[in-house]
Amino acid sequence: MSIPTWPVRAMRTQCEQSSIPGKKETMPTETFAVKPASNDSVPSGPASGHCHVTLSNGSEGFDVRRGDLLLMSALEQGINYPHNCRVGTCGRCKTRLVSGRISPLVDFALSPLTNEELNDGYILACQAKVRSDLVIDVDLVDHQVVLPKSIPGTVCGWKLLPGDVIDLRIKLEEPLVFEAGQYAALAVSGSFVRRSFSFYDAPSSGAGTDEVGFLIKRLPGGRFSEWLAAEDRSGVRIWLEGPFGQMGIDDTPRESLCIAGGTGIAPILSIAEDRLKRYPDHPVTIVFGVRTASDLFALDRLERLKNIAGPERVRIVPVLSHEPAGSAWQGRRGLVTAVLDEELDVDYHSLSAFVCGALPMVEAVEKRLRTLNVSTDRIHADKFEPSGV
Ligand SMILES: Cc1cc2nc3c(=O)[nH]c(=O)nc-3n(C[C@H](O)[C@H](O)[C@H](O)COP(=O)(O)OP(=O)(O)OC[C@H]3O[C@@H](n4cnc5c(N)ncnc54)[C@H](O)[C@@H]3O)c2cc1C
Ligand code: FES
Repeated sequence: MSIPTWPVRAMRTQCEQSSIPGKKETMPTETFAVKPASNDSVPSGPASGHCHVTLSNGSEGFDVRRGDLLLMSALEQGINYPHNCRVGTCGRCKTRLVSGRISPLVDFALSPLTNEELNDGYILACQAKVRSDLVIDVDLVDHQVVLPKSIPGTVCGWKLLPGDVIDLRIKLEEPLVFEAGQYAALAVSGSFVRRSFSFYDAPSSGAGTDEVGFLIKRLPGGRFSEWLAAEDRSGVRIWLEGPFGQMGIDDTPRESLCIAGGTGIAPILSIAEDRLKRYPDHPVTIVFGVRTASDLFALDRLERLKNIAGPERVRIVPVLSHEPAGSAWQGRRGLVTAVLDEELDVDYHSLSAFVCGALPMVEAVEKRLRTLNVSTDRIHADKFEPSGV
């Protein structure tokens, strides 16, 4: 059965007709087409099975197997395509489709794309199956990415931490190279449940590492995390695919402000250690939000950063949002945003900020940072959204 196609302009008109001011309308998720530009190449024949992707800014193009996802295909070829979550929530892979046809996996009208971007022909590359030759408008990242790969491994460490968090360590059958702040998709051997979790170790130099660690929050009803938390899973075989993500990419030597909510501390540990080692003249402040004092975890790993870099370069600020009044807790209380003020004693005008945690927390922190004069290009964020595929 052929997939119906619409000219994108007609489809937008459909949406506009029923639009409610200020609210995005849902759009059909079937294949849509953009009228080919005058210099658009004729789609490669079905026999070839490949489509060519041309970048309108003159960067070198690449081929994609028809039906493959635009982003994954680019990453597998070592192309520095902007991305983070790969599940359609962060908006980092937004790309203007100049010409050609794609099938969206999700309804872009419900994605981070704004009405204006939808009208300008933007798509999410991570959610776009390529159906024809494409011309796209996207700025590739000026940083060489590590090629993702699939590696089997075995659980070699399993520890239940406060706050219903599991410290999971996996021994890999071959070394993996990753960068600070990146993540991998994990799947138990034989299972279709694949979920994204961030590395908490700092990257190792050279050929990579054959052991990786994750901090995984047990979510009620969560298929992977509930299974993982149920008992010690040492010895279980797990497949890892990665690395992915570009949250930690910032090659400028300067002060760092890291803000984590819950297991968002995993990539922050990796980024903080990496930056302390790479930029020995600059301090790192870590604001770590959890609910109560009994939910605080990974404090030993945070303290270890002080041993690595010296206590004068590392400041750790735990913040509790739901600690009972009158408890023995002497530290900060409230949301992490409450800590972000002039008294934090950081230079908002020059620092790099790294933010990670649940979506509402990340969005609130990003907003707060902007009001404190942290420019958008110095804010790097990862939202821990459900990552099921
Ligand atoms: C880039 C990235 C990095 C991440 N890194 C980490 C990390 O380091 N540590 C970490 O703990 N998390 C991390 N996450 C988040 C993690 O991947 C997700 O929370 C993941 O979905 C957990 O998998 P799960 O199988 O345990 O839960 P899922 O089965 O995916 O369910 C997630 C939550 O949604 C609920 N849910 C599921 N299906 C439905 C439904 N149909 N309707 C309503 N609710 C539903 C579940 O009850 C549960 O609370 C990351 C996410 C991303 C995108
Ligand atoms: S929305 Fe595509 S990588 Fe996040």
